[in-house]
Amino acid sequence: MVENSANRDGVSVLRIDNPPVNALGPHSVAPLLESLRTAVSDPTVRAVVLAGARGTFSGGADMKTFGVTPSPRPHTRDLIDAIEASPKPVVAAIEGVAMGGGLEVALACDARVAASDARLALPEITRGLLPGAGGTQRLPRLIGVGPALAMILGGEPVGAARAAELGLVDRVARGDAVEDAAELARSLAGAPRRRVSEQAATPDAAALEAARRKAQPEARGGLAEHAAIACVADAVDVPFAEGLVRERQRFVDLIASEQSKARIHVFFAEREAAKPPAGAATPAPVRTAAVIGGGTMGTGIAMACANAGVDVTLVDLQPDLLERARGIIAGNYGATLSKGKLSQADHDARIARIAFATSLDAAANVDLVIEAVFEEMDVKQDVFRKLDAIARRGAILATNTSTLDVDAIAGVTARPQDVVGMHFFSPANVMKLLEIVRGARTSPDTVARALAVAKQLKKVGVVAGNCDGFIGNRMLYTYTRQAGFLLEEGAPPQRIDAVIKDFGFPMGPFAMGDLAGLDVGWRIRKRRHAEHPPEGRYSRVADRLCELGRFGQKTGAGYYRYESGSRTPVPDPDVDAIVRECAREGGIVQRDVADDEILKRCMYPLINEGAKILAEGIAARPGDIDVVWVYGYGFPAFRGGPLRWADAIGLRSIVADLETFEREHGDAFTPSPLLRELAASGGSFGTMKTVDAKEPARA
Ligand code: NAI
Repeated sequence: MVENSANRDGVSVLRIDNPPVNALGPHSVAPLLESLRTAVSDPTVRAVVLAGARGTFSGGADMKTFGVTPSPRPHTRDLIDAIEASPKPVVAAIEGVAMGGGLEVALACDARVAASDARLALPEITRGLLPGAGGTQRLPRLIGVGPALAMILGGEPVGAARAAELGLVDRVARGDAVEDAAELARSLAGAPRRRVSEQAATPDAAALEAARRKAQPEARGGLAEHAAIACVADAVDVPFAEGLVRERQRFVDLIASEQSKARIHVFFAEREAAKPPAGAATPAPVRTAAVIGGGTMGTGIAMACANAGVDVTLVDLQPDLLERARGIIAGNYGATLSKGKLSQADHDARIARIAFATSLDAAANVDLVIEAVFEEMDVKQDVFRKLDAIARRGAILATNTSTLDVDAIAGVTARPQDVVGMHFFSPANVMKLLEIVRGARTSPDTVARALAVAKQLKKVGVVAGNCDGFIGNRMLYTYTRQAGFLLEEGAPPQRIDAVIKDFGFPMGPFAMGDLAGLDVGWRIRKRRHAEHPPEGRYSRVADRLCELGRFGQKTGAGYYRYESGSRTPVPDPDVDAIVRECAREGGIVQRDVADDEILKRCMYPLINEGAKILAEGIAARPGDIDVVWVYGYGFPAFRGGPLRWADAIGLRSIVADLETFEREHGDAFTPSPLLRELAASGGSFGTMKTVDAKEPARA
């Protein structure tokens, strides 16, 4: 209910009220319209303040109503029209957040006052949309074309101080934002209204041109970007009312687009993945952590903890490596500070939260231990045996292993219920995905706590069952394996990389391998092959490159060569010669491989393996797999992840193509039973019934 507070000295304060974030929809808008009408007709009211209940303005439109046609009335635009029509001034008091439609409402007011910790954003672009309630028309008029484009195309929140610099808000409140807004409203009472819609936007052709150049092509996820840029151009070129009509039409077109539907799918899938298993207790936040192993991953994980306000000790047996880690952390935070992305106080606080130790005893009293030592079972088991003796009861004992059996690690402790995989992605302080690996004996409470840690670290947590490679790397293997075969069959690395990049990945598999370091996989393969020699077709190219010391960017050469100091991959005839030699040894006749075959041979195994992972209960839902691939591997979000993309193509046609490849290239392409079943019944991943596989599997 709207608490339409008593007339405060001639100012009526209206509040948007719809828990938890005051989303705008018929339920929250209708009472506001009523209160505004009352305020306008009440002669004792001279001005109006629009605020939000419970200390936050509005999180924007209710996502669940997106795409519902006709959109239920009254909607945000009705409120905006009523504010525009009001003869009395309306001032927005922005506390907490003003996002999306919430900010668009604030833009229709005469002035805006922000609390000092308020955050303002137009995040629609991240859902493949544009601000559809006048935001693209009012914002350029208020703050200029360039800054408006930055906010609309970036989607990132701006803080109160920056908003004041931009002219987005008139002032930052010194004390209570509502009081300050009421004072400002009083001073505006009686004067002509200050409508943003009546201002002109200053032309800035250069900013528009720069935005067009930077935007993704429309077919590669850029539909919403180009539509938003066209709207901002209209704000300069056409009358306000005409601009609104065009904005609406473009918004309606985007809502119907596959790009937007795919992004909204990822948004909901991410929320679904974050839900704790049924019946698990609500976990308390972790306050202290120890990270064991001060290498690449340990250093990044320690920073991720410190960034989230967790006090963390980084433990490594070797003092020189610990010193190195300290230097890397200082350098990293220093760079963020000098780019202006971190205040001096935050910089100092984050550095102060990270302690260093050479003894595991530092893990004695912490809430969370994350092990990131060498990828060797006996080293990890040794660490967990010691942790079992040292760590306090009830602490989460997590391993960051990327390939080893979590059950075998948990098995050396007397508390396997508290042991869980927490698989971070490199660089761990940046990458958003956290795969949470549920071992056979991991308790639902521990899974729930690990999911809560993910959220606390501002990561996207997805629960995976315990198998070789979990969800992400198990699927990755099927894709990079085919990429390697295609190389031998005659497609050069730059061609394969170009096809994958054109599909929408930030990088193709070979540029990616060179960036990550080819030696990592080489070491894993050598160990595995000593245990089990590879079965079936095996490409020797990657091993041959490593034998020559070509580990990728770090050695200046891998699948490509790199000029000193440059990260730009340059095609290398030496690599072509190595590939030709491997093909000859394998009896493979090189041919011209079509782009369409490259794409399908690389991507369809992802879909097929994803189906197997679902059938085995390694992933609970198709959406979990999509989230892993979008956040951990750069699968284009505008395609919604591999399984959402598969649904868009149609499973029947995918099965038919897999069967063709199976005839030519063998059982790596044999369609999985689940995929066949869905295709035969005309089903899809999006409509299949799933069970909650976060619960431990029952035999
Ligand atoms: P790294 O070789 O850079 O670091 C390992 C560190 O552990 C070294 O500093 C070493 O001194 C330390 N260490 C070894 N034994 C120790 C012990 N008993 N006690 C304390 N410290 C010990 O390795 P990296 O790349 O950081 O990998 C660590 C783990 O993370 C591995 O399990 C790896 O599979 C996993 N991982 C690696 C990813 C990557 O991209 N590098 C991605 C995801 C997981």
